Amino acid sequence: MSVARLVERKEILICAGAGGVGKTTTAAAVALGMAQRGLKVAVLTIDPARRLADSLGLPELGNEEHQVEIEGSGELWALMLDPKRTFDDLIERHAPDDRTRDAVLSNRIYQELSNAVAGSQEYMAMEKLYELHQEERYDLLVLDTPPSRNALDFLDAPERLSRFVDSRSLQLFLRPGRLGLKVFGRGTGMLFSVLQKVTGVDLLQDLSEFFASFGDMAEGFRERAARTGELLADRRTTFLLVTSPRRHAIDEAIFFHRRLRERELPFGGVVVNRMSSLAVESEEVDVAELVTLLGAQLGRKVAGNLEDYEAIAARDRKNVARLARELGAGAAPILVPHLEDDVHDLRGLEQMDEYLFAAEAVPAP
Ligand SMILES: Nc1ncnc2c1ncn2[C@@H]1O[C@H](COP(=O)(O)OP(=O)(O)O)[C@@H](O)[C@H]1O
Ligand SMILES: [Mg+2]
Repeated sequence: MSVARLVERKEILICAGAGGVGKTTTAAAVALGMAQRGLKVAVLTIDPARRLADSLGLPELGNEEHQVEIEGSGELWALMLDPKRTFDDLIERHAPDDRTRDAVLSNRIYQELSNAVAGSQEYMAMEKLYELHQEERYDLLVLDTPPSRNALDFLDAPERLSRFVDSRSLQLFLRPGRLGLKVFGRGTGMLFSVLQKVTGVDLLQDLSEFFASFGDMAEGFRERAARTGELLADRRTTFLLVTSPRRHAIDEAIFFHRRLRERELPFGGVVVNRMSSLAVESEEVDVAELVTLLGAQLGRKVAGNLEDYEAIAARDRKNVARLARELGAGAAPILVPHLEDDVHDLRGLEQMDEYLFAAEAVPAP
């Protein structure tokens, strides 16, 4: 299996997996590889470490698309997602008029909400993906999923937002005349007015303003969240699971694969990144030859080290075999070795290319 085949006739590739396994790196390498093969590609990343963004030559945080200089006939564009900015853009789009827009954007409750609502990062990544896909300016969009504690959080993000909008307590606020505020009762009202005296912040006013103006936008939000959810399941989308060969990462990839199936989301393939290189390159090392070359003492030492490496390679192979059994035929894992240098620039990404785009995955011997 090669990534090139995986993305054939696809418009969206979503790189998903546990934290630290190489999602951001893989997303960038795939995007670069497809751009070098002639496509116009955008890679969307939320990489708080920023190292990869730096190496792609991306400036400070922002939602703007930046072109990365590459060799080859295609184009590579990269976006560092700024969830807060995306949320603000969304408000601008759905606000019926400037007054409502300003009221929401300057609202303290909104400012807290857009930063703090669980999964808002994940949701915003989906939202931006949807927007770019609608615009049809790229051949391929590659999404690097956010580093959430739970690798699956982002799947629920679109639905979570529509649930929030639909929630009963929010509906109460949204009723005409804002009767809803009365559910707080007198005690709460007093609490708010004491708070206001102490802090000078009129929370009740903020709340009622926020829910009043948010109400006008609820329908648009809900609809968009639903369509974003549909896009994830579309056959133009494919999921690439990224994992390391370590046992718990493999467990998580297996779990993730099952969840995709349950939800009827389009699983495409899996990359096992940072394999011990002995498990990927099937070159034989001749210990006897080493001893002849290096002398008995050094030769034995090297042979000893080799045994350690072999043990790690054997463990990696075993874990990959378990994953391959789970995935079944037709989804042979794509193996990428642990490269000597940390991958942090275009050169490093190009080194991954040979493995990601191999005609067939290098079979584990
Ligand atoms: N195949 C590889 N060989 C060596 N280093 C790698 C490889 N893949 C990723 N890395 C390094 O591992 C670290 C984590 O990778 P990253 O892509 O940021 O993971 P994630 O996005 O899943 O959290 C980075 O420092 C990256 O440069
Ligand atoms: Mg990452």
